[in-house]
Amino acid sequence: MYNIAVVGATGLVGNTMLKLLAEKQIPIKQLTLFSSARSAGKEVLFRDDPFIVEELTEEKTAGPFDYVLMSAGGGTSHHFSPLFEQHGAVVIDNSSAWRMDPEISLVVPEVNPPSLSRGIIANPNCSTIQSVGPLNILSEAFGLKRVAYTTYQSVSGSGQKGIEDLKRGERGEEPVNYPHPIYNNVLPHIDVFQEDGYTKEEVKMIQETRKILNLPDLPVTATCVRVPVSSAHAVAINVTLDKETSVQEIQDLFEQNPHVILEDDPKQNLYPMPVNAFGKEGIFVGRIRKDDSLPNTYHLWTVSDNILKGAALNAVQILELLINRKEK
Ligand SMILES: NC(=O)c1ccc[n+]([C@@H]2O[C@H](COP(=O)([O-])OP(=O)(O)OC[C@H]3O[C@@H](n4cnc5c(N)ncnc54)[C@H](OP(=O)(O)O)[C@@H]3O)[C@@H](O)[C@H]2O)c1
Repeated sequence: MYNIAVVGATGLVGNTMLKLLAEKQIPIKQLTLFSSARSAGKEVLFRDDPFIVEELTEEKTAGPFDYVLMSAGGGTSHHFSPLFEQHGAVVIDNSSAWRMDPEISLVVPEVNPPSLSRGIIANPNCSTIQSVGPLNILSEAFGLKRVAYTTYQSVSGSGQKGIEDLKRGERGEEPVNYPHPIYNNVLPHIDVFQEDGYTKEEVKMIQETRKILNLPDLPVTATCVRVPVSSAHAVAINVTLDKETSVQEIQDLFEQNPHVILEDDPKQNLYPMPVNAFGKEGIFVGRIRKDDSLPNTYHLWTVSDNILKGAALNAVQILELLINRKEK
């Protein structure tokens, strides 16, 4: 049985983590829930029992905690994760604060299980997780030569404030979170712009893909787009492979793999969509077709619930993996 803390327990991801901890019957001795001062004192339910959320302070990082699920933004993680780590906890962090640190494992459990050189493990970006799952299967079978992403990311990827902006737009009100209305609109802009014209979200997808797949020189490019969908992201992937294959062979590989769900029957109008992926745990893949403009190149379309596999579920799967290793 373990002492577990959830930081950001009042947020979209943190709250979903609590549901998953209960569903997956993680053996918990003591559960501690943290937020900022804004929500301190609020009641949150876990397995139908009320828990009072506490403000996270430096003193409280002493716990003792075995595992900390951190889901409270990069600044909070930068400050508090090393303190939890110093006190002996293993932190699984959802922000981008540690992902590209060479000492920190950036983990999708079915792709690259963590090494434990540090007591902080990073959970990747949501769109990256649902892309590297299928790409790793292709990489192992055929090798990868180049990847180009275009994302269609839901507003819940911006947390509660993204959902509120979509609702504001539906009511005819101005946005607060996004620079333009998201309702009836599409924004080619996620996170801040860099000097070279890419956004930070695009850079995250490029760098994290290389790190997770352990292909540091893989040519990867990305365009990240926010769409007026509440939940579940879609990613169009154009991938060039090292070896020749066929659409049928790729479909067969996905069908046999327990970590992706193939939904690919265009004649029946069957392809992955956010409305179907919402609330489900898998990475859905479809629209697999050959791109005749380049040799050995294919299009894929992946959809996954960004709060589940894109965030909370992947973090809880990392936790399960660590617990299983310990109990072996
Ligand atoms: N949404 C997604 O699809 C997604 C996917 C992958 C990763 N993530 C990452 O997961 C994290 C949380 O995202 P979210 O969507 O759940 O955001 P959210 O709904 O806005 O929730 C943020 C949570 O962080 C807490 N928090 C903020 N500052 C804090 C502080 N100084 N100390 C302790 N807690 C603090 C908030 O507490 P209060 O209630 O007190 O404000 C709230 O519980 C972010 O790092 C985000 O980048 C999100």
